[in-house]
Amino acid sequence: MAIRTIITGDDPVLNKACHPVTKFDGKLADLLDDMRETLTQANGVGLAAPQVGILRRVVLVVNGEGEMLELVNPEILAQKGEQDGLEGCLSVPGMWGYVKRPEWVRVKAQDRNGNWFETEGTGLTARCFCHELAHLDGHLYTELCEKLYTSEELDQMMEEQEADR
Ligand code: NI
Repeated sequence: MAIRTIITGDDPVLNKACHPVTKFDGKLADLLDDMRETLTQANGVGLAAPQVGILRRVVLVVNGEGEMLELVNPEILAQKGEQDGLEGCLSVPGMWGYVKRPEWVRVKAQDRNGNWFETEGTGLTARCFCHELAHLDGHLYTELCEKLYTSEELDQMMEEQEADR
């Protein structure tokens, strides 16, 4: 296993649509193992293959139970409700923005052996599924934000909200 470099900034690889995975081989297993190690080290809740420069439909999502799910060729099957909350991305370090996402999503995907399964998530997990799947079509959450905040700006906003109470 190896930690891969997370691509940040304006790299065009982050804006490309990814190809479906057709071979469930050792190369895919290596990619997933490396992505797991990379996400763990980055202390994130999700990572998509294009973020490590691989244009394949592969993502990791840490769900509400703290399990790191491997999703190959994932698709959203159903969604319900709406939530508005802060979102960040390992490819856009140090920035956050408010994004509307469904409150609940159901997803189907293949595992590293090609077996299809279904899973679902609410709240942060639903947000994470939507965010990571968007990466596979070359979309970043920043496209959905009116404004991006630095951590200093966020801290200041929180303090002001506290003061208003
Ligand atoms: Ni991201």
